[in-house]
Amino acid sequence: MHAAYGGVVPELASRDHIRRLVPLIESVFKEGGRSLCEIDAIAVTHGPGLGGALLVGSSVAAGLGAALGKPVIGVHHLEGHLLSPLLSRPRPDFPFVALLVSGGHTQLMAVERLGQYQLLGETVDDAAGEAFDKTASLLGLSYPGGPALSKLAETGNPGRFKLPRPMVASGDLDFSFSGLKTAAMTLIRKAEANSTFDVQSRADVAAEFQAAVVDVLVTKSLAALKSTGLTRLVVSGGVGANKSLREKLTRAVRRRGVAVFYPPMELCTDNGAMIAFAAAMRLAEDPALLENSDISFNIKPRWALEEISVG
Ligand code: KG4
Ligand code: ZN
Repeated sequence: MHAAYGGVVPELASRDHIRRLVPLIESVFKEGGRSLCEIDAIAVTHGPGLGGALLVGSSVAAGLGAALGKPVIGVHHLEGHLLSPLLSRPRPDFPFVALLVSGGHTQLMAVERLGQYQLLGETVDDAAGEAFDKTASLLGLSYPGGPALSKLAETGNPGRFKLPRPMVASGDLDFSFSGLKTAAMTLIRKAEANSTFDVQSRADVAAEFQAAVVDVLVTKSLAALKSTGLTRLVVSGGVGANKSLREKLTRAVRRRGVAVFYPPMELCTDNGAMIAFAAAMRLAEDPALLENSDISFNIKPRWALEEISVG
């Protein structure tokens, strides 16, 4: 539905959510052989994200909560991503460094324990996934372009074209991907103008672009581990599904005695399980949440993860 527009159209998304959400909940319970009466609580994403879509979710959760007499627990979307690797086995122990790379965020966090998150660095402009999507679109690939670009890169030669590794030597843990995307655009436009942009060249640009993003993510993750002295790295968010990132990170940390954890592929990109899991963890720690149902339609389209951190 969104591919025709090259990105998510907020109004189309929220209208589609209205149509799909209740039938989806029904089919999930039917498939799982469970009934709504069996659940302890309803977890719902309160933010950050697109206002319209957040409102649809919060409204359905509030309605279900009122009808079933079950508490509603509002969850931070990024906390869901951050904790999703704990759904895999072996499960990482706290504390760890988290590399959170999605379509909207690129952040390094120090996670001391549940609810204690310190931002170490983040992108000053585009998110890594956004850069993947925009460059993919320049290469004529359809949205969402990250997986398609990564597939194309498999047949390409990184190094034939040269792209920058932005901010690798900046001395901090911040990122910038907008200049890299512009450099890729200049390269592609020049090659197209010279009619030298054949299939192999496209694959070569894709491979070099992916190598540039991955190099930056690996370098900064290692720097974050060094500066915190932590020995566990947890990767989450859609770009965490990238095969090349996983291979290079795994190789880079092995020599340093660091253990790296990835969520299963299907839990890397946005999903409901990670939101349910974040609420379940909070509930286990604070049973009083069962008495404090939040049916306030309290959505927060802009919401920093640090706001829910307890120091
Ligand atoms: O976490 P996510 O599903 O949604 C957000 O919260 O943003 O991440 C989606 C992003 C998109 O930009 C998509 O292109 C990117 O993750 N992505 C990938 C791969 N799979 C998904 N990027 C690079 N390589 C992949 N294999
Ligand atoms: Zn996400």
